[in-house]
Amino acid sequence: MTTPRHWSRREIARLSLLGLTGLALGCNDDGTDSEPSLDTSDSADPRSCASTPTDIEGPFYVEGVPIRSDLDTWGDPGMKLTLSGTVADADCTPLANAVIEIWQADDEGAYDNDSADMRYRGQQATDAEGRYAFTTIIPGRYLNGQQYRPAHIHVKIWVDGVERLTTQLYFDDDPFNEVDAWYDPERSMAINDHGDGSGDCSYDFAV
Ligand SMILES: [Fe+2]
Repeated sequence: MTTPRHWSRREIARLSLLGLTGLALGCNDDGTDSEPSLDTSDSADPRSCASTPTDIEGPFYVEGVPIRSDLDTWGDPGMKLTLSGTVADADCTPLANAVIEIWQADDEGAYDNDSADMRYRGQQATDAEGRYAFTTIIPGRYLNGQQYRPAHIHVKIWVDGVERLTTQLYFDDDPFNEVDAWYDPERSMAINDHGDGSGDCSYDFAV
C-alpha cells in the first residue's frame, strides 16, 4: 500500500483549477467510451456503479511524483493526448478531491525511473464535480519478456488518503491487446484523433 503526499486545502484548490484548465483544452467529456457500467441488477438501489477493475501495479511505480496535469512538457515525439474523465463512488456520486495519479512510458516505450524530472508521471485532485484531466502523449510499447505489451497508462486513485484503486488503461485497436495477459476491454479507450498529431480520450472511474 502506498500513500500520496499530504495535501493542503490550498493545493487541492489549485489542482482543481488545473483540472478545469485541462478540460478547457479540448478533452472529450461525453463519457461515451468509459462510463462506469450502471448495475441495475439490484432494483432496490439502481444507483450503483460497478467498480473499475483492478490491474497490476507493474515494476515501474515510484512514489512522490509531482503535482501536475501537463505531462507533455519535454518536446518529445509522440501523439499528444488529453485524457480526462471523472471519479465516482459506488453510488455513482462524483468524488471531489480524490487524488488520481498516472504513470506511463514515453514514445519509445521507456519509463523514467531515475531522473528528477519524473517524466510522464503526475498526480492531481479531482474538482468539485469529480473531474480530472491530464495532457500527455500516447505511450510507446515495450518488451515484456518475448512479447510487447500494448500501449497503456497506469493509474492509482486515493480517496481521503486511502488508496482505492490501482489499474491500467488501454487503447482500442492496439494489435497487442489480444495477446496481452492484462488487457481488459472494459478499460480500453477509443482515441478521438484530431488529425493534427493530437487526440483525446476519456475514462470514468468508479471506486
Ligand atoms: Fe507499464
